[in-house]
Amino acid sequence: MKNKRTVLVTGGCGFIGANFIRMLHSDCQDWRVVNLDKLTYAGNLKNLDGIREGERYRFVRGDICDAELVAKLFVEERIDTVVHFAAESHVDRSITGPGAFIRTNIEGTFTLLEAAKKAWLGGNKSVTQPCFLHVSTDEVYGSLGETGRFNETTAYDPRSPYSASKASSDHLASAYFHTYGLPVRITNCSNNYGPYQFPEKLIPLVFNNAMHNKALPVYGDGKNVRDWLFVRDHCEAIVEVLQKGRDGQCYNIGGNNEKENLEVVTLICDLLDQKLGLAPSGQPRRSLITFVTDRLGHDRRYAIDATKIREQLGWEPKATFEKGMEETVDWYLANRKWVDAIVNGSYRQYYAAMYSEQE
Ligand code: NAD
Ligand code: TYD
Repeated sequence: MKNKRTVLVTGGCGFIGANFIRMLHSDCQDWRVVNLDKLTYAGNLKNLDGIREGERYRFVRGDICDAELVAKLFVEERIDTVVHFAAESHVDRSITGPGAFIRTNIEGTFTLLEAAKKAWLGGNKSVTQPCFLHVSTDEVYGSLGETGRFNETTAYDPRSPYSASKASSDHLASAYFHTYGLPVRITNCSNNYGPYQFPEKLIPLVFNNAMHNKALPVYGDGKNVRDWLFVRDHCEAIVEVLQKGRDGQCYNIGGNNEKENLEVVTLICDLLDQKLGLAPSGQPRRSLITFVTDRLGHDRRYAIDATKIREQLGWEPKATFEKGMEETVDWYLANRKWVDAIVNGSYRQYYAAMYSEQE
């Protein structure tokens, strides 16, 4: 079988990357995937259980900052498409240790762009129709007040070390299009949720703490708003951008699901109460909610205006928040071992220091 595309997926062992590879594996059977992942604390080979190495899939453990390795992969594998997910992705970690974010998110993206430029625009142009899709975040636009939504022309105003590093990488990607003509497309999406999300992020963290009768930490007053996007909808949007998008363009991807954090946490508690009965204490799980000190520089509200991708590429999110959350909670319930392995493994000390058992 001739592969229609050979896609270098970076960060394919993380949350969104693994969902994306799984989707390609079932829906785009003539695409070959090369997954380049360093396996940091957030990368997990178990996220790709069932996907075997062979004609359609190769895993390479490595760092996107390793210029030699990345250049070799472009040539050896005749990469014609890049979907660049690899990043340090957790805002709280970027506040306590920004260095890794600068390195991976900025230098790593630069390394990939350079390799793509050499391979695709250098003397030996053996690849037809290359495409470099850089996956970014709505956090680059900063924080909204009570009204308004981010669109593709909103000025960048990143406010955490994480979002500043992503903004920087977006600017580099865009510069490579304008300066060298590298066929770059950028997507800026809102908060994802769904299977395989690392349990330091709000939704899987609350699920896991609720299952262990631990405090459910809500930062500040719990009224910060995020626009939740089901990961499968996000992955479908990326395929649309690859297939129908235009080079040099940015596309905002949002879930049309603006929720305050407190609503999200309460919904998880209520779903667990419905499915499992009340907590062992006989109390509804909402009673575990604990307001804690706010995150430094905590952005108040994010919301995406996804008109452009809807009108130009025909993409819309399919999942309602209620349906997507029910599917997510069911997945975490059915995959307790996956969560437990992380929480009892390399993440254990970090986790234990943060969350003690409720009396
Ligand atoms: P994640 O933290 O779950 O996974 C990141 C993956 O990248 C891991 O597998 C990790 O091992 C790998 N990685 C990290 N540094 C690397 C390096 N130097 N070289 C190679 N691999 C490396 O992240 P995620 O939530 O899946 O996010 C994926 C992308 O989507 C990121 O670029 C993130 O900024 C963006 N994004 C995420 C969200 C979200 O809600 N999760 C929202 C908007 C944008
Ligand atoms: P998070 O999942 O870390 O994503 P991001 O910071 O990229 O939006 O957090 C989502 C929201 O939930 C954010 O407003 C911070 C808040 N939050 C809590 O209230 N408690 C928590 O324990 C965590 C991890 C997040």
